[in-house]
Amino acid sequence: MALIPQHFIHDLLNRVDIVDLIDSRVPLKKAGTSYKACCPFHGEKTPSFTVSQDKQFYHCFGCGAHGNAIGFIMEYDRLEFPDAVEELASSLGLEVPREQGSDNRPKVDEDLYTIMSKIAAFYQQQLKTPAGKQAIEYLKNRGLSGEIAKQYAIGFVPNEWNNLEKIFGNLKANPKLQKQLLDCGMLIKNEEKNSIYDRFRDRIMFPIKDKRGRIIAFGGRVLGQGEPKYLNSPETPIFHKSNELYGLYQARQANRKLQRILIVEGYMDVVALAQFGITNAVATLGTATTASHIQQLFRTCRELVLCFDGDRAGRDAALRALEHALPQLRDGREIKLMFLPDGEDPDSMVRKIGQQAFEEKIAQALPIFEFLLKYLAKQVDLDSVTGRGQLVHLAKPYLEKISDPIYHEFFSGALAEKAGLTADKLEKILGADQSATSNSVSQAQNSYQNRINSKSNLQAQQKKKTNKTIQLALTLLLQNPKLAQTIDNYAWLLTLPDKGSKVLHQVLEIIATNPKLTTGSLLEYWREDKLYPRLAALAVTEREERMQGNETTELQDCFKHLLQQARKMRFNFLQQKAAEHGLTEQEKSEYQQLLLLAKNSPSKSAKN
Ligand code: UTP
Ligand code: MN
Repeated sequence: MALIPQHFIHDLLNRVDIVDLIDSRVPLKKAGTSYKACCPFHGEKTPSFTVSQDKQFYHCFGCGAHGNAIGFIMEYDRLEFPDAVEELASSLGLEVPREQGSDNRPKVDEDLYTIMSKIAAFYQQQLKTPAGKQAIEYLKNRGLSGEIAKQYAIGFVPNEWNNLEKIFGNLKANPKLQKQLLDCGMLIKNEEKNSIYDRFRDRIMFPIKDKRGRIIAFGGRVLGQGEPKYLNSPETPIFHKSNELYGLYQARQANRKLQRILIVEGYMDVVALAQFGITNAVATLGTATTASHIQQLFRTCRELVLCFDGDRAGRDAALRALEHALPQLRDGREIKLMFLPDGEDPDSMVRKIGQQAFEEKIAQALPIFEFLLKYLAKQVDLDSVTGRGQLVHLAKPYLEKISDPIYHEFFSGALAEKAGLTADKLEKILGADQSATSNSVSQAQNSYQNRINSKSNLQAQQKKKTNKTIQLALTLLLQNPKLAQTIDNYAWLLTLPDKGSKVLHQVLEIIATNPKLTTGSLLEYWREDKLYPRLAALAVTEREERMQGNETTELQDCFKHLLQQARKMRFNFLQQKAAEHGLTEQEKSEYQQLLLLAKNSPSKSAKN
């Protein structure tokens, strides 16, 4: 699928009115300057779901859901981004243009889907042939009912090298089709022997469907012993392992609204759970859980339960999955972990204990932070001061992965408690750690800056204030993009070392080229960015009432402070350089100018 040009998305967001759009699905009532309703994303009796016409943005104060018009369609209609854009465009009678050139993914040959579904039907039929008898036997032995096998379209491929020719006829005579079968991974070409043959032979076949129910790949299991136990389709134009989940289509079909999804490891686990009435399990396809998996699942439901073996490998896998999961925590999303006893998998477990007991286990899954703290605490001695310090140290990389401020605060609070520290103290320890690492990074880049940074505690405090100022400026601009018109000189922002200053610069640049942007359409620029959760959180931060109406002055003050900060840093830098290497003519005059400016604002002298 070709990319949708950015300008079209903005045009779309410009034309649609989020109030009309939402009102057509969730009737809204006017309340002051905004509109309200009971939130469609969580159960509530008093309305806390607010839609702002000015901002073209919705926000629920109850569950934290928020977004622009596209985001609403994605959440409410459960659509992926391109489909949500299609939906919105067609409601306005617009056609979505596609940027052919900019898309480096090759155009997908739609025939491949048809081919795959023909093959799946053939594999299913094979179960009924004499050769398929042993397969039926195997499935029965594993406890699968005929009904569930049918539901998952499980089939069998006989032990021959040319099964596909039985479906499609002589392939040598049809090079186009042969190439298509090679493309979708069903045939293998041996270059040396110049032979072409079936990839899958003598296996139980599990068709893998995409979210739209199209068959895109297969997993094939040997009937008894043998290597590999599971053979999967390779990456093909229609199958990208790290994006797909086995059973997701069926889970969505079986449940009108999925509250939670259980992520397991194997095909058999998904099928067995479904047979026992647990129809919300999906499996990764022989890969670890990726960020893309988690992202997709969170579009379908708010709670993910990751199910692992109880052994060490299971715990390691859990930690790897958490690395992808933590950055995606926001808006009341929940991640839990569930560990099975050694030697069990969901398939064996559910057959042993049954649906109800298994569901109880799911309900007892450990919330992500509880697991993390428990896991990390086990590695240190919490009775000793050193041990508690180590705990903070071990937790830090995980803490850094949480971009949502609420979850961040929550985890650092829990961490502080576990380590026996006050929140303040913890922040200090983490902050000190931080400047240590950022120094070592910048050392190679800029030794002057480095020494300046490590100079004193005062500087750390300054840094914190600058950081807060940047946040405030971002908040003001995100909530009211028109304010950007009051700022005309901001290129110097890029000289500040904080990452936030780059973002602030970017925000101003974007608004400068699109003065009509609203909160909703502005945030659209970060939809796929890891910064999105943080920016969206700032956009919905409630501001104190007494500060409302003062935005212009407030923003001016922010920029005054930041400019002073930028000058101060430049000044210090030049001063240091002058002492060690001397300055160029241009630098000298710059230095004098900065000195002058510093003198003119005595209260905030550059020399501190
Ligand atoms: P397991 O080896 O745990 O298999 O692999 P399982 O699901 O319990 O299978 P049964 O019960 O023995 O039939 C878990 C998953 O890892 C992938 C498959 O997706 C499998 O479902 N896998 C495993 C492979 O891709 N290749 C392999 O050789 C083995
Ligand atoms: Mn198993």
